[in-house]
Amino acid sequence: MPKGTPGVTSQAVAVFLASLTLCTQLWANEIQKGEYLARAADCVGCHTSNPSRPFAGGYRVPTPFGDVYSTNITPDPDTGIGRYSADEFVRAVQKGIRRDGADLYPAMPYDSFAAMSREDVLAVRAFLLAQPPISQPRPQNILPFPFNQRWILVLWKLANLRTGNFTPDPSRTAGWNRGAYLVEVLGHCGACHTPRNTTFGMDENRKLAGGTAGIWQAFNITGDKIAGVGGWSDDELFRFLKTGAVPGKAYAGGPMAETVMNSLQHLSDEDIHAIVAYLRDVPAQPGDERQPRFSWGNAPVTAGGAGAKTQGSGSIDGDTLYRSLCSGCHGMKGRGSPDGSYPSLIHNTALGAATPENVVMTILEGIKAGDVAGRKSMAAFSGWLDDGQVAALANYVTARFGNPDLSVTAADVRQMRAGSTTSQTIMVLTAQSLVVGGAVLMLGLLLLLARRLHRGMTSARLMFAHRDRR
Ligand code: HEC
Ligand code: HEC
Ligand code: HEC
Repeated sequence: MPKGTPGVTSQAVAVFLASLTLCTQLWANEIQKGEYLARAADCVGCHTSNPSRPFAGGYRVPTPFGDVYSTNITPDPDTGIGRYSADEFVRAVQKGIRRDGADLYPAMPYDSFAAMSREDVLAVRAFLLAQPPISQPRPQNILPFPFNQRWILVLWKLANLRTGNFTPDPSRTAGWNRGAYLVEVLGHCGACHTPRNTTFGMDENRKLAGGTAGIWQAFNITGDKIAGVGGWSDDELFRFLKTGAVPGKAYAGGPMAETVMNSLQHLSDEDIHAIVAYLRDVPAQPGDERQPRFSWGNAPVTAGGAGAKTQGSGSIDGDTLYRSLCSGCHGMKGRGSPDGSYPSLIHNTALGAATPENVVMTILEGIKAGDVAGRKSMAAFSGWLDDGQVAALANYVTARFGNPDLSVTAADVRQMRAGSTTSQTIMVLTAQSLVVGGAVLMLGLLLLLARRLHRGMTSARLMFAHRDRR
């Protein structure tokens, strides 16, 4: 062996070690990138029902047709995504197709994720595969017929799924393009904030003009000065997205509180600025509001003044309930606690909206602000108050501090508590009767056809018999 060999060997070992370190480093970077993307896309929040079992699924996603539960995306081979190949994973996220080929419900927002780059989806996969595997089977979805039939999703996809990656608009700034990718694709803001068309896809002509998340109303966040957020400053939008709280304007409750907690608060300031820049540019869409949601509550608050109004609408005990249950935090005059740690109800978008759902849902569910810095939570009152009391309180606070045109009945509250609305029930019944009606019609047609065939065959047989005899 030549003399120089030991040197060459140690050099080779050094090169090998160096490239190993580089690979590990690259892989670590990939996982870190995937973690950030999983935050921005909120895979985290939507695939976790029990914080001690992250990504194991079982989180309930309410849809107009019923409840769909998220599935386990830990690396567990049997109940998770352990057996998904890279291609199968990309196909699931971008096209909503499960490993076994079944179509996924759009409760998983793949209609937004469709435009995610393959590179980004694979980084998310790298991050998920680095998590501890947890064995947890999926809960049964609660969907009435015909929505429990996955094959109908083929029709939905035909009408609503556009595939193809996000293409930046070269005439725009990098910030705007980043914002577009964050809003339209990763953050799937439209899944909640865009109204649905007749086939229940996102209505692209009315982008971000206001939609629903279960019973919660995800308000119009276009640039419209009255119905949207055109009257907010950039700074206020930034604060809302980063913390979920803009005193004197809006607080994030319900699904938006979760979005802030699980996703938006973890994004870089630069990314939040990009989202704001993009939102500023979304075409303004009008709505039902007569004045901006945050502008109500200007009327001089005189004790009993608005109380008389709620008495007139039959909510006799709204005032008493407010005094005993709410005023401790929100103040007798609804101006919040003196140190500002409990919010004012005056100039609050939930109370000034054109519909009462978010006020009722706040009273029923409270607000879980989670670990967001500087925010406090509000208790849920659903276990304490009956439907009539919740209605009385909602009517009282909207009349006194918000939009006095709003009113709810105990029956409305009962439906919201149950997680459905009259229009949803009507829709399900219509779909069922359409499908049953269609099936009966088909059966009738088949019977008719069978009889015709039978008659045709009998006459053919007679004819042949006749010919044979000849
Ligand atoms: C709004 C809630 C929501 C968000 C956000 C979400 N998912 Fe899902 N996901 C679901 C639901 C619900 C299902 C189950 C759908 C079904 O069974 O038809 C699902 C199913 C899946 C599946 C199929 C797994 C299987 O075999 O059943 C994969 C893979 C997946 N999600 C990955 C992701 C990734 C990655 C992200 C983030 C980029 C993400 N999801 C974000 C709700 C969500
Ligand atoms: C899971 C559903 C959901 C998603 C996803 C979601 N939002 Fe929301 N958003 C809501 C709901 C519901 C409200 C109303 C909250 C309330 O009244 O407390 C809301 C409120 C808001 C408001 C305040 C509007 C007002 O007038 O008070 C802004 C701004 C907003 N969202 C921006 C966004 C952006 C930007 C994204 C995407 C990065 C996003 N949201 C994603 C459900 C959602
Ligand atoms: C323990 C203190 C506390 C009590 C009691 C309380 N709240 Fe709240 N409430 C809060 C906090 C804290 C928030 C805002 C949390 C956040 O989003 O940062 C809030 C927010 C709200 C909002 C705004 C929700 C939104 O989406 O903008 C409404 C409406 C509301 N409360 C109504 C009530 C009513 C009605 C009662 C009485 C039944 C009540 N609160 C009792 C602490 C309280």
